Amino acid sequence: MAARWLECRAASTVQAHRPLALGGQRLKAMAPFDAISSQAPGRICPPEYGYSPRVFARPAELFGDTLYVVGGLYGNVCALPAIDALVARDADSPLIVFNGDFHWFDIEPELFVQIQQRVAHGANTIALRGNVETEIAGSDCAAGCGCAYPESVPDDDVARSNEILARLRATARAVALDRADARPSLASLPMHVVAQIGDTRIAIVHGDAWSLAGWRFAHDQLHDDRHDPRLASAFAQGAVVGYACSHTCLPALKYFEPDAAGGGELVRGHANECFVINNGAAGMPNFADLPFGLLTRISVRALPTAIAGERIYGLTVAGLYVDALAIRYDAAAWQERFVSMWPEGSAAHRSYFARLQRGPDYSMAQALGHVDRSACATALT
Ligand SMILES: [Fe+2]
Repeated sequence: MAARWLECRAASTVQAHRPLALGGQRLKAMAPFDAISSQAPGRICPPEYGYSPRVFARPAELFGDTLYVVGGLYGNVCALPAIDALVARDADSPLIVFNGDFHWFDIEPELFVQIQQRVAHGANTIALRGNVETEIAGSDCAAGCGCAYPESVPDDDVARSNEILARLRATARAVALDRADARPSLASLPMHVVAQIGDTRIAIVHGDAWSLAGWRFAHDQLHDDRHDPRLASAFAQGAVVGYACSHTCLPALKYFEPDAAGGGELVRGHANECFVINNGAAGMPNFADLPFGLLTRISVRALPTAIAGERIYGLTVAGLYVDALAIRYDAAAWQERFVSMWPEGSAAHRSYFARLQRGPDYSMAQALGHVDRSACATALT
């Protein structure tokens, strides 16, 4: 059985800079990966989750001047009007990519269908599957939620995530009995897409450059001073200058130095600048005491004045404006809806309600890491 599974995380020893947070809870210090041997559901991922960064060295499938990447909606229907409002005020009619985990808390059938309809059939919208959609579309319980949680996440949290996935899978099955079955279409969604914004190529993934549920684009790994050469090579191998991702539930932005990034001749024209931006969660707060979700905007043009106030941080890189924008949804309305589905004592309430109320124990400084500001002086604010 063990041979069936791939390790979705980096194989090197990695220490968290600070305790991570999930659902507003502080987590124990991250253990060296060499010590990890757990094959439990929720900690491992199926081999079909894996791919090589070289898979991105293909013709782009999306073209445009402005792209919104909205990862981790987590069934938060209240975030959709706020996202649409941003899009409407952006001058560039942006493409929207929901890059996975748009379902999660939406165990109420009507809500599940509403989320599915919006993501699958919305205007100018592309959907990618995350581990959540992949697992609810299947019937194998061995992977649990498919999150491939690192050891820093306690077993109780992993067990509750597996329980949430089981409830969501039951909802998907129930919906399929008397309405259109969403599971085949979820299963057929791509895991990643290559976009050309202006003349610049980027890859949009759910996890990282190696796996649907990878954690190498988590903030602690991106900002680790001990550069992983595999991370640097992912840009040249994929012939892209940037990766936009989600999955880890905590946002991060990383600018890579030219040599460290190993840009190489595959990234002609922009070999000197590379980036990774992780939007964290569109449907949950991302920072302590700040009750908004985040999305990523990538454009050849600067933010229009109409939405400039929603910029949390960003940079200019490789001819692109890369910004994290606040999704200011009705937090009270979403918390009320959440509790109607996940009352006190339930798995999701225990894991996430504190985060919905107060945000995770996480800051913008952590998201930005130890960036060399002299190397990208035009950008970070
Ligand atoms: Fe995920």
